[in-house]
Amino acid sequence: MVRSFLSVMDVSPEELENLLREAEMIKKGKVPSKVLEGKVLAALFLKPSTRTRVSFEVAVRHLGGDLIFLREDELQLIRGEPLKDTARVLGRYVDGIIARVYRHKDLEVLAEYSGVPVINALSDMEHPCQALADMLTVKEKLGRLSGVTLAFIGDGNNVCHSLLLACSMLGVNIKVATPKGYEPAEEIVKAALARASLETEIQILNSPEEAVKGADVIYTDVFVSMGDEAEANERLSVFLPRFQVNRKLLSLAKPSAIVMHCLPAHRGEEITEDVLEGTCSVVWDQAENRLHAQKALLSFFYG
Ligand code: CP
Ligand code: NVA
Repeated sequence: MVRSFLSVMDVSPEELENLLREAEMIKKGKVPSKVLEGKVLAALFLKPSTRTRVSFEVAVRHLGGDLIFLREDELQLIRGEPLKDTARVLGRYVDGIIARVYRHKDLEVLAEYSGVPVINALSDMEHPCQALADMLTVKEKLGRLSGVTLAFIGDGNNVCHSLLLACSMLGVNIKVATPKGYEPAEEIVKAALARASLETEIQILNSPEEAVKGADVIYTDVFVSMGDEAEANERLSVFLPRFQVNRKLLSLAKPSAIVMHCLPAHRGEEITEDVLEGTCSVVWDQAENRLHAQKALLSFFYG
């Protein structure tokens, strides 16, 4: 099977470091070679997206390639054609598939049946392209990765999972604080622990105050992810007010701490307006870094 990027674990720590170095150089002005010249990728998005979609479309064009954006409601998928059949057909036409899906298993089906590289543009389990940009942002803002402490406050799902894996592979200490019952999946925590060096700390907590104590980075994500809308009221009552990133929680971190959010943000829920718009927030640079990181990723896969 050709190589895909469904999880942060699909690259080695060395490859991850190289990817970040390449992304840094691209951001500083290095013109990447046109590795996608003559190639066409498909972007199959079963959920909405602003950043991931647009940054991939731009990245593909800058690298000399073309991209066809595919919505589920315009494909025979909506009329019941199996995903594995869709994958087999797409694989005959395109050179790769960038896919945003509900079930992670669907990415595995796409990879197995298409025969072309599949890139995870977000699933219920992981958001590895986001983690690449996040690590690039931490390195850019703090000047290093190893020894940095990141506190993730919120839901222990896709974004948190990819962060756990990326941090463990890059020597970033990570403290995750979720309400009880919303902790990251055991298999991800185990995989992160297996990848972490002896000096790298990984802690799964239920106390946001404890997690942010002494942290260099405070990171949050929405309380109601795409696909969780039916549980919205219940989730908000569990997460609020304690798991909100606000000025009080921020005051417990290092004075130099930066605030990160994958976006889109829900002001007044996981983060307050003043913190999101405040001087500690690096969310717009973080969003920009999606483009540079994905150019590096595509160069790695197609170079
Ligand atoms: N962070 C992120 O993946 O944003 P989009 O949902 O807009 O792509
Ligand atoms: N956890 C969020 C991330 C959005 C980029 C979701 O899955 O909706």
